[in-house]
Formats: sequence, structure tokens, C-alpha cells
Amino acid sequence: MKINAYAKINLTLDIHGTRTDGFHELRSVMVPVSLCDVITVLPSEDFSFDCSVKELCGTDNLCVRAAKLFFATAGIKPSVSIYLEKNIPFPAGLGGGSADAAAVLEALNGFFGEPLGRRTLFSLAEKLGSDVPFCLLSRPALCEGRGEMLTPIDGVPELCVVIAIGGSRLPTPQVFREYDSASLAVRNDTDAFLDAVKNNELCGIISSSGNAFEPITDMLAPETKLLRNEMLALGAKSSHLSGSGPAVYGVFENAEKASIAAKELENKGFFAVSCKTLI
Ligand code: C5P
Repeated sequence: MKINAYAKINLTLDIHGTRTDGFHELRSVMVPVSLCDVITVLPSEDFSFDCSVKELCGTDNLCVRAAKLFFATAGIKPSVSIYLEKNIPFPAGLGGGSADAAAVLEALNGFFGEPLGRRTLFSLAEKLGSDVPFCLLSRPALCEGRGEMLTPIDGVPELCVVIAIGGSRLPTPQVFREYDSASLAVRNDTDAFLDAVKNNELCGIISSSGNAFEPITDMLAPETKLLRNEMLALGAKSSHLSGSGPAVYGVFENAEKASIAAKELENKGFFAVSCKTLI
């Protein structure tokens, strides 16, 4: 059995303070994109996990944690081999590890005849990470709380995007810490974005996209700002950070313009890929 694990981008990301559990209260519109990893599950005597990227082969991989959680909850002997073909850059703010974990839950549940219901799968996803429930849902959604409270959104148009990465890794906890110490005014891009979707206003959808981390990542990783500006210079209608970075995305008028921009960015030495949002 093969299953795709789709990356995500955050079209909006607002932060409404810290919670008593140390996490942050988020309001973010996330959408899956066509860039994906591929997970293969095959029957086996025992459990094994392998990956196309050697540094991700360890037992701390979220795929292994997802599989262990699935088998323990379903009361099934771990008896599959899992292979992860990694195409989504990491760590990047594209939810690659979360997508892999969600895909493993989905694949194993399918493989063993659906022993777990949707509600149980979502509760396992929540234990694995803040973005894993969204990846299990795998459609545009308003993500609140830690990121696990999901409201699916109808009417988000298909967007042609370029995803690009310029340089240094940005550990998520560090970006949150720096955000807290900067005491920035709270952004509220999400409500404006949801209104624009409701009114079917493409311009409003594009202009209300944003990411509260940008002032922080512009300082911690100036190449992310440079890359956003490069995207705009190449004709993007908007360009923002995804998650806590360092990946950025640009929204282009059509697939051809996106593909030309991705090639230009590649020629300049960036990782760049053109893809579409999944709706
Ligand atoms: O849940 P996940 O493992 O993806 O979170 C990674 C880190 O991001 C957490 O350890 C925390 O520092 C930060 N985080 C947060 N608030 C959220 C989501 C993540 O502070 N809502």
C-alpha cells in the first residue's frame, strides 16, 4: 500500500498569547499542497522502518511513533515494514514530519481493516504533534488552540504557489520564544481571510494572508525576507513564511508563472518547487 503525505502551508498564522501548558494559542488557516512524501506499507513478520534520507531513519522518527501508537491502541502485533520517500524539505514549517505521521496512521488503519474510528485516529494524531490532526484532515481548515482544533473551510480557491527555502534551520521552540520576548502587537489576519473566502474575493484572500512570525524570522534568518522579496520581484501576488519557517511561499497568477519563478529561484541557488494547494 502506498499513500501520499502532503505538505501544508499557513495562509494565515496569528498568535493570541501563551497557554497554561506552555504552548501558544493559535489561529491559522492551513492548506495542504501537492508537494508530498510517499509512504509504502508492506506486510512483514516484524516491524521495520526505513527512509530515503539516512538521518531520518531512527526510531525517534514521527512515523515510528505514529505506528507504535497505532499498534498499541488497536491491540495488533507490529507486523509491517514502512518505507518513507522524503520529498518535503525538513525542518521547514511545511509540516512534513506531521504529514508523515498522519499518513502512517491513515495507512495502517486502512491496511488492518479500519480497527480504529476517526475520533480515535484524531486523538492519536493530537498526541503526536500540534499539526498532525490537520494533516490527517488534509483539507483547508481553520486551526485553533494548539493547532489541533479544526474547522474545515469551504471555498478556499486552488492557488498556484512556489515554495522555497533560503538557508538556516529555524527551531520552532526558539522562534516561539523570540516571538514572546518581542511583545509584538497581535495580528488578526485570519478573520479578514475568512471574510474574503466567504465573499469569494480572491484579492482579499491574497492580501489578508500573513504570518505573525515574520518580524522575528526576518531578524533570525534574513534570507527568509530576501526570499519573500525575490518572490515578489518574480511576480508573486503575495509571499509569506510558512509555519515557523524557514520555508516561504509565493502565490502566483497561474501554474506557468509559478513554474518559471521556481526555475529562476533554483538558478539562484535556492530550493524551490512549484505546486498547487489542495482544496
Ligand atoms: O506540537 P509540536 O511538537 O509540533 O510543537 C513543537 C514546538 O512548537 C513546541 O514544543 C512548542 O515549543 C511550540 N508550539 C507552541 N504552541 C503551539 C504549537 C507549537 O508553542 N500551538
